[in-house]
Amino acid sequence: MADTFDAVVIGGGPGGYNTAIRLGQLGLSAACIDKRGAFGGTCLNVGCIPSKALLHASERFHEAQTEFAKLGIKTKVELDLPAMMAQKTKVVGELTKGVEYLLKKNKAEAIVGEARIIAPGKIEVKGADGKTRTLAAKNIIIATGSDVAPLPGVEIDEKQIVSSTGAIALTSVPKRLLVVGAGVIGLELGSVWKRLGSDVTVVEFLDRVTPGMDLEVSKAFQRILTKQGFAFQLSTKVTGVEKKKNGLAVTVEPAAGGEKSVIEADVMLVAIGRRPFTGNLGLETVGVALDKRGRVITDNHYRTNVAGIYAVGDCREGPMLAHKAEDEGVAVAEIIAGKAGHVNYDTIPSVVYTFPEVATVGKSEEELKAANIAYKVGKFPFTANARAKTIVATDGFVKILADAKTDKVLGCAIIGPEAGNLIAEVVLAMEFGASSEDIARTCHSHPTLTEAVRQAAMGVEGWTMQM
Ligand code: FAD
Ligand code: NAI
Repeated sequence: MADTFDAVVIGGGPGGYNTAIRLGQLGLSAACIDKRGAFGGTCLNVGCIPSKALLHASERFHEAQTEFAKLGIKTKVELDLPAMMAQKTKVVGELTKGVEYLLKKNKAEAIVGEARIIAPGKIEVKGADGKTRTLAAKNIIIATGSDVAPLPGVEIDEKQIVSSTGAIALTSVPKRLLVVGAGVIGLELGSVWKRLGSDVTVVEFLDRVTPGMDLEVSKAFQRILTKQGFAFQLSTKVTGVEKKKNGLAVTVEPAAGGEKSVIEADVMLVAIGRRPFTGNLGLETVGVALDKRGRVITDNHYRTNVAGIYAVGDCREGPMLAHKAEDEGVAVAEIIAGKAGHVNYDTIPSVVYTFPEVATVGKSEEELKAANIAYKVGKFPFTANARAKTIVATDGFVKILADAKTDKVLGCAIIGPEAGNLIAEVVLAMEFGASSEDIARTCHSHPTLTEAVRQAAMGVEGWTMQM
C-alpha cells in the first residue's frame, strides 16, 4: 500500500526543502525526497555554501599575505589546504543536517532515494539498498534543480578537467588554472585558486565578463580582476583539450573562427553554465511538458500542464539562484494550501562573491535603454566613503537607476566591499516601490559602507554631498 501525503516534493535543494517546510507550517502532510543522501541540494552540498566557505578562507589567506602589512601587522602565513577543505566540509555537514532537522521540526518526512513519477499522483522511490517504496500524493512538486552544462568534446574527470564540484575539492593548488567561462562560477572559483597561488587564465566566448550584467559594472569588474592578476582571453572558445604527461594542452580559437593557439594548464575548470535536471523522473510517463532548453514549463502558479504537478527552482525558467528557488518554494506551498503565494521577479538580487563583491537588482542601464524607459543615474565611488578608506577597500562604486518621471528606483548595481549585504537595502526599497529620494532621505549610520548607497541615491537628483 502506498503511503499517502498531501504533497510530495522531489528534490531536497533550496526549492524543495523550503516547499516542504512551508507545507508543514501550513498544516499539510509532506515528504521531501532527495537521492543525494544529504539534504540541501546543489546549494548546500556542492554550490553556494562550500564555494563561499572557500572564498572566505582564501580571502583571509590572501589578506594576511598582502594587506595585513598595510595595517601594521607583521605575519608569516602558510597555507594548510587540507585544514581549509576540512573546515568547508564541516560547515556543509552542519548545514545539511540542519535542513534535515528543519524538515523534521515541520513534520515533513525526509526520504533518501531516487524518485520517479509512475502515474498521476504516484511516486516510486528507490533507496540506496535497491528497495522501493510507493508514495501517493494529491500534489507533486518537481524541484530537481540543475546540473553542469558540458563542453562538447570535453570529458570532465573532476581531477584535471573539473566542474565546480571538482574545483571545490582539489587536493593541491594547481600552478596553472584555465577557467572556461567568465561567469559567476568561473570568477568566484577562479578567485579562490588565484588567492591560493594559481596563475589563472579565463577564456570567455563573449566579449566581456559576466555577460548580462550592467556593462559599466562588468567593465569595472574586469579591470579590478585584471589588476589582481587574472588573465582574460575574451571572444575566444575552447575547441579541444589533450591530456599530456605534465598537464593539459587546451586548444583555443577566436569565437568567430580563426587561428588556433594552445594554452597549457594543470587544471581546467569548465564553467559555461548549468542546465535543468529532469532526467529519469518519469515526466514522459505522465506527459509533463518541457521547453526547448529542457526546463519544466509552468504557469505563474508553478503549475505544469498536468493537474496536480508543479515545478520550482532551477528546473524551471528564471535565474538559477538559491533564493529564487526558495521564494518559489514558499509561493508554491502557499498556493497549494489555498493562499496567495507570489514571487516578485523584479526584485531578485544577484551577487558575485568575489573581492570586491558585485551585486545587482532590477534593471541595468542597457535594459532600460532597450525598453525605452527614461531614467536618471546616481553614482558614488567607494574612494569617497570614509568606512571604505578605513578598511582599505576603496575599489568600486554604487550605481542607482531611477525613473526619470516618478523617481521610482528601477535598478541598482554595486561593485565594492560587502556589496552582497549592501544591496539588501535597495531590494527592500524596490519591494516597497520606493523612490531614490526615499533612500536619500533615510538616515544611515556613520561611518558605514551603507552611506555610499545613500550618497548614490542623492546623486539621482544631483545632490550628492560627500564628493
Ligand atoms: P538543487 O539545489 O540542484 O537541488 C535539487 C536536488 O534534487 C538535488 O539535491 C538532487 O540530488 C535532487 N534530485 C534530482 N533528481 C532527483 C530524483 N529523481 N529523486 C530524488 N532527488 C532528486 N546560488 C545562489 O543564490 N548563491 C550562490 O552563492 C550560489 N553559489 C553557487 C555555487 C556553485 C558552485 C553552484 C554550482 C551553484 C551556486 N548557486 C548559487 C546556485 C544554487 O546552488 C542553485 O540555484 C540552487 O541550488 C537551486 O536550488 P534547487 O532546489 O532548484 O535545486
Ligand atoms: P554563467 O552563465 O554565469 O556563466 C557562463 C559563462 O560561460 C558565460 O559568460 C558564457 O558566455 C560563457 N560560455 C558559454 N559557453 C562557452 C564556451 N564554449 N567557451 C567559453 N565561454 C563560454 O554560468 P556558471 O558560471 O557556470 O554558473 C551557473 C549558474 O550557477 C549561474 O548562472 C548562477 O545562476 C549560478 N551560480 C550563482 C552564484 C552566485 O549567485 N553567487 C555562484 C555560482 C553559480
